[in-house]
Amino acid sequence: MSSASRRPLIAGNWKMNLTLAQSVDLSRAVRDGAASASGEVAVCVPFTAIAAVGAVLKGSAAALGAQDCHWETQGAFTGEVSAGMLADAGCAAVIVGHSERRRLFGDSDEWVNKKLGAALKAGLTPIACVGETLEERESRKTWRILQTQVEQGLKGFSPAELAKLVVAYEPVWAIGTGRTATPAQAQEAHAFLRGQLRRLHGEAFAQSVRILYGGSVTPENVDALMAQPDVDGALVGGASLKADAFLRIMRFSAAAPASADQ
Ligand code: PGA
Repeated sequence: MSSASRRPLIAGNWKMNLTLAQSVDLSRAVRDGAASASGEVAVCVPFTAIAAVGAVLKGSAAALGAQDCHWETQGAFTGEVSAGMLADAGCAAVIVGHSERRRLFGDSDEWVNKKLGAALKAGLTPIACVGETLEERESRKTWRILQTQVEQGLKGFSPAELAKLVVAYEPVWAIGTGRTATPAQAQEAHAFLRGQLRRLHGEAFAQSVRILYGGSVTPENVDALMAQPDVDGALVGGASLKADAFLRIMRFSAAAPASADQ
């Protein structure tokens, strides 16, 4: 299990899903389950659902998040939403650098760096995603990719500025594919990422940053993943859209024996 100094975080990423009515129903279930969760809970919802879900979660143990932001504070950026606007709308967190943004919408490490800065400036908890593609893993580029994404993504910020940072390791080959990283693969990558954080800003910083695993997390595999010492939580896509599944993930047991497939 993660170090006692790092409180686990289970974050749902709803992506581009659910009507407002469905969003309200699901967020009610998350709100009601959050008090008995094994760690902190957040849901990262589409922009259009922020107000409605925020009204449901208000005053509860579940935090509200968004899935992306722009780095500018305001202006002529048609279609974009700033980090300050998200904070103003009640968000406490925002995902930056999700692989779908990188792959489908051109988010570069430089953009992720700017978005991260905007999120921090707005007082949001940034959930900064990194992860290698299958091709990169198979050609043994995983560590190089992760190192570059961390170095470029965090460039220019002091440890104090990064106090709220959450990193999410999301191997692209595991996202929405049903092919989860094994607990051992996740641990190996998380330990590597923590090593990069240590290299950048020292041991105390590295030990303080939560590193979530994302990629086909389910009620069946969450306990074994959370049992790994450097896995501090999960970023959950598909399974966060079903109340039963997400509530079970929120109640993970990190004491579970590591699964046999390591
Ligand atoms: P998944 O998505 O759980 O559906 O694989 C995770 C994510 O993309 O954050």
